[in-house]
Amino acid sequence: MNGMLDGQRNELLTLFSPGDGGEIPPYLAGREKEKQFFQLAIYTLMERHQGHQNMIVYGPRGNGKTSLLEMLSEYTRSEYGNNIEVLWATPSEIRTPEKLEHWIKSEGRPATPVVQDIQGKAGAWILEGSANLKIQRPDGIKAAIRERCTANPVVLIVDEAHRLEKQTAEDLLNASQTVRREKFPFFLVLAGTPDLIGTLDQAESSFWDRGQVFPLGRLSLQESVEALIKPLDPFGIQIAKGLAEEVAAKAHCYPFFIQFWGKCLMEQLVDSGQMSIDRDVVMNAEPQVIARRNQMYAKRFSELNDRKLLNIAGEVARAFVSNDNKPIPVLKIFGLVGEMESIKTLESLGYIWQAPPDKGDTLSYEPGIPSLMGYIDKQTLGLSVPELTS
Ligand SMILES: Nc1ncnc2c1ncn2[C@@H]1O[C@H](COP(=O)(O)OP(=O)(O)O)[C@@H](O)[C@H]1O
Ligand SMILES: [Mg+2]
Repeated sequence: MNGMLDGQRNELLTLFSPGDGGEIPPYLAGREKEKQFFQLAIYTLMERHQGHQNMIVYGPRGNGKTSLLEMLSEYTRSEYGNNIEVLWATPSEIRTPEKLEHWIKSEGRPATPVVQDIQGKAGAWILEGSANLKIQRPDGIKAAIRERCTANPVVLIVDEAHRLEKQTAEDLLNASQTVRREKFPFFLVLAGTPDLIGTLDQAESSFWDRGQVFPLGRLSLQESVEALIKPLDPFGIQIAKGLAEEVAAKAHCYPFFIQFWGKCLMEQLVDSGQMSIDRDVVMNAEPQVIARRNQMYAKRFSELNDRKLLNIAGEVARAFVSNDNKPIPVLKIFGLVGEMESIKTLESLGYIWQAPPDKGDTLSYEPGIPSLMGYIDKQTLGLSVPELTS
């Protein structure tokens, strides 16, 4: 009935990777500036045996922060093997500065020597008395990094870094600056939602923005098309460029949706045994994409409702819908919403975010996901203000 082999069927069904765990996509499109910066950082560590400026990546959920960093760490491991250490931390593991210090020392190392070491340090601390604790704490992290960097250069990646506690973020940034000044081969990468900027601002390390900061927005149309069609090359699956562009636009160039579209298109191909994507395949895949998207949007709706923000979100949605989802100046959004607190919450949910302009254009907000604006607009139309905000 259909000429596809079982093996090929399974390959196609698992080709695209819509997920939330930073699954590396079959083709990671765009992100050239970020890749180049990271690779130069690794070069500096390996060839010059020096530290490199911090890398800070932020953007709304689903734009590809985790998968980018996963891909870059894989690159590093495959290129330099055991000659470099890539450490990957999440804030729950390094909640306090003390935990961070311990974690840097022990991660991936056999337990026994570390325990002795920690006990030794703890003893010294007590002897020196508690008056010095504030100075001691950051020194602990610095010492841990220095020690870790003596064998091999170290890359420390902290994902979801917006959840770092203020003190931990502060100590880490200070330690990074100091050890790099001392010429230790250390490279710190922080990634998180736009809240990360707030977290770093709160940490008393005013120099943090001298690191290289990369806002990660949606892909360009061209990059989205590549993300969709490059993985198909090895299978000889055809899709007309114009049609691929239509799909990319339907996915709003949002990386998560592109993967999801890819997956649904592959399911259609496997069902029909067809090896080219035509308009019918796209039409048949679309209801499934929409169903999954609406499921996700229902979740976003309830997040907004839980925070009593449906009204405001509705207003913002209507402003974007009538502006064709193009950026709106921040001052206009401030005027529309009124309360800074609500704007902050909308930002931390990734509902809207400030994508810094490349040139000297006006500072503006963009929707985190454009089609969510239409959805929230529809869902909140006709809802009366007092009922929802009380
Ligand atoms: N540059 C890219 N090209 C194609 N797909 C991508 C790209 N970046 C991310 N994706 C896909 O988008 C989804 C979300 O990525 P993820 O890294 O989890 O985002 P974040 O960490 O920002 O929430 C994943 O399914 C991932 O495979
Ligand atoms: Mg992530």
